[in-house]
Amino acid sequence: MSVKPPSGKPGTGHAPARQLATRCIHGGATTDAATGAVMPPIVTSTTFAWEGFGQPREHIYTRSSNPTRDALERCIAELEGGARGLAFASGQAATAGVLDLLDAGSHVIAPLNFYGGTRRLFDEVRRRTADLDFSFVDMCEPGNVEAALRPETRLVWIETPTNPLLHVVDIAAVTALARSRNITSCVDNTFATPCLQQPLQLGADLVMHSATKYLGGHSDVLGGIVVAADAELGRQLHLLRSASGGVLGPFDAYLVLRGIKTLALRMERHCTNALAIARFLDGHARVERVFYPGLPDHRGHALAKRQMSAFGGVVCFEINGGTGAVGEFLNRLQVFAIAESLGAVESLAGQPATMSHSSVPTAERRQMGIADNLIRLSVGIEAEADLLSDISQALEHH
Ligand SMILES: Cc1ncc(COP(=O)(O)O)c(C=O)c1O
Repeated sequence: MSVKPPSGKPGTGHAPARQLATRCIHGGATTDAATGAVMPPIVTSTTFAWEGFGQPREHIYTRSSNPTRDALERCIAELEGGARGLAFASGQAATAGVLDLLDAGSHVIAPLNFYGGTRRLFDEVRRRTADLDFSFVDMCEPGNVEAALRPETRLVWIETPTNPLLHVVDIAAVTALARSRNITSCVDNTFATPCLQQPLQLGADLVMHSATKYLGGHSDVLGGIVVAADAELGRQLHLLRSASGGVLGPFDAYLVLRGIKTLALRMERHCTNALAIARFLDGHARVERVFYPGLPDHRGHALAKRQMSAFGGVVCFEINGGTGAVGEFLNRLQVFAIAESLGAVESLAGQPATMSHSSVPTAERRQMGIADNLIRLSVGIEAEADLLSDISQALEHH
């Protein structure tokens, strides 16, 4: 399979680099060459007839490559500024694909506070099945990463902003440290998306996404993405993915690509709505603490301002009144639905302790700083006034 260079239409020559909002729509030059269809066809065929014996065409078998999935992969590689994109069946499959790069006995440094499912895959599965070892450190302090380094450290896994407490990690500092020791670095860019943050430009080797979230954007497709800065790393990941088989199907690839077309527009509204909600919650009598990198008193605010173009669509807060108050608040919401997941057009709310992070053992969850009265809001793109009044009325009654 050949990956076409990340470019716009042929003949644009030395035109200035297009802005991200334009690249979301035209990235990967996905217009179908045969028909001119501006959206690539969904190619369902699992196999492709050879021109003759010993003469395969570009695509051979869909587990290795598929035209629809290729279109998505070219698009996301262009958005992240990488050499190659690879689409997996879910975010977890993408993360597992990155871990497959490592030999048994390797050591991985990962955040103390990050998505619970990634922690479960690392700590409960790959520690046992692949003989990997993991150190979980507070990465907001890059010195903690340095202190955790071992001769057998092969991967630094970064997530920023983190799920759910929105810790911000200095990507340039941590990836420079990894690079100086020849250690691969990977950034889970799910919360920021390439619209807000570009980890490969800051020195990361790999970017990973749960495409289920903002890239897809409509709560109707599960998917994962890895983008490699370097073609050789991309080639290795492609081989490993073909071997293990956790690829994204063509229908789902189409949906993610379709979602990306509106990503820049959606992210703008997610971010302005989320900032308005964070400001509303900050100082509210029923709120103990708000977590949002856009608030000046957030620990990572200055860094987020430098590293991101806006602060994202997730806001967390601790409600006063304990777990009872959590249920009462969630049940009173009318626009927000109580649901897992995040990053789609509709607003969702949940309690990380019993939902997104229920797979993390209680003691570890507490160590991560995820209290039982923590509520996570995935702020959608509805009208700001409706979201504010929904939260306001749900907080009023207790
Ligand atoms: C930050 C982050 N990374 C990875 C994942 C896993 O993605 P998926 O659910 O698509 O497997 C999630 C899912 O919530 C997530 O929030």
